Amino acid sequence: MSLETWQNALERLRGEGMLRQLKTVSGAQRDHIRLDGNEVLLLCSNNYLGLADHPALIEAHCRATMQYGTGSGASRLVSGSMTLHRDLEDRLSQFKGTESALLFNAGYAANVGILQGLMGPDDVIFSDSLNHASIIDGCRLSQARVVVYPHRDTHTLQRLMVQEAPVRKGQWLIVTDGVFSMDGDLAPLPELVALKNHYDCLLMVDDAHGTGVLGDGGKGTGEYWGCMPDIDLHMGTLGKALGGFGAFVAGPDVLIQSLINRSRSFIFSTSLPPGVAAAGLAALDIVDGEEGRRRRLQLQKLRSLMTRCLATSLPVDTDGVSPILPIITVDPEPTMRASAWLQDQGVFVQGIRPPTVPEGSCRLRVTLMATHQPDDLLRAADLIRRVLAL
Ligand SMILES: Cc1ncc(COP(=O)(O)O)c(C=O)c1O
Repeated sequence: MSLETWQNALERLRGEGMLRQLKTVSGAQRDHIRLDGNEVLLLCSNNYLGLADHPALIEAHCRATMQYGTGSGASRLVSGSMTLHRDLEDRLSQFKGTESALLFNAGYAANVGILQGLMGPDDVIFSDSLNHASIIDGCRLSQARVVVYPHRDTHTLQRLMVQEAPVRKGQWLIVTDGVFSMDGDLAPLPELVALKNHYDCLLMVDDAHGTGVLGDGGKGTGEYWGCMPDIDLHMGTLGKALGGFGAFVAGPDVLIQSLINRSRSFIFSTSLPPGVAAAGLAALDIVDGEEGRRRRLQLQKLRSLMTRCLATSLPVDTDGVSPILPIITVDPEPTMRASAWLQDQGVFVQGIRPPTVPEGSCRLRVTLMATHQPDDLLRAADLIRRVLAL
């Protein structure tokens, strides 16, 4: 069989400046890493609180692995839930203030599985235009009618709901990122709650980037807006601010039981290893306590420092609250050139291109961690301003 078709497609991507290639990191996701052999400042990890190499998580992971082994053996419906799965779900539902919670193997699997498991051909999903790819794929898999509304535009969403109402047959669900992964802005949850109440539908928030980071207790975007109890389905991940791996949805028990019965990414996949679940529990202890509060405060201070510094010549949002700072560079070629130049100067900032973001909105996506040092950020901001002025 000839592989020419794929080789040609890759060459086309290379010619368009769109080829993706992996870089090798040696060591943990710390503020400094070795990237392809050279030491660089890491400015593109979602390890926002710096928990990915926290001694408490490592110890919990190791202890659980010594006691329960490395693997869970099968899907939970086949070989049973491990006690650590149940403990972590209980802790997550308590953290988010819901009746129940269910673990998934990653945020991607969670979004695909939740939407496919709960929605069907008679239903309508209203989805923000900048929602994560896993939500888009979940919408497709659900076979529901999908109505995409312009980013954060609740007036247009309302108009679309008015249009849909006369032909309504089944369930409606509004789905949104809590913190938008590539822009760092927040979903207008109070307005979405008002719409979901008015139209009697479900509200699902993907808080992959808000969980652990936003709100006084780190409960996420819902806590930030003061509307945690109004969210029906809280999706969150354990692999970003919580420093581990995996994901979950927290919500009413009837929906969790429905997912256990219908969600294909839950049913047909080996469950999380015990060490990963134990690390999740250790992370929640930190996020929920004084140390988590301190780390969130530090992250906000670093955000103010970095945005103030960048804002002297670049259009960055100095009023925002998330640790994601997009710097729009428009086209792929200059974006990747800037990213490569920064890497040569010892700063690792990822360039983001379509299809991750819409055409014409390529960007350098800077992400901050509570463990960054102010001096390192000042130097990085200076270099970013310089490269974009070239
Ligand atoms: C908003 C959002 N949802 C879901 C995911 C998927 O989560 P995971 O990386 O755990 O698969 C991501 C991942 O980057 C994300 O940004």
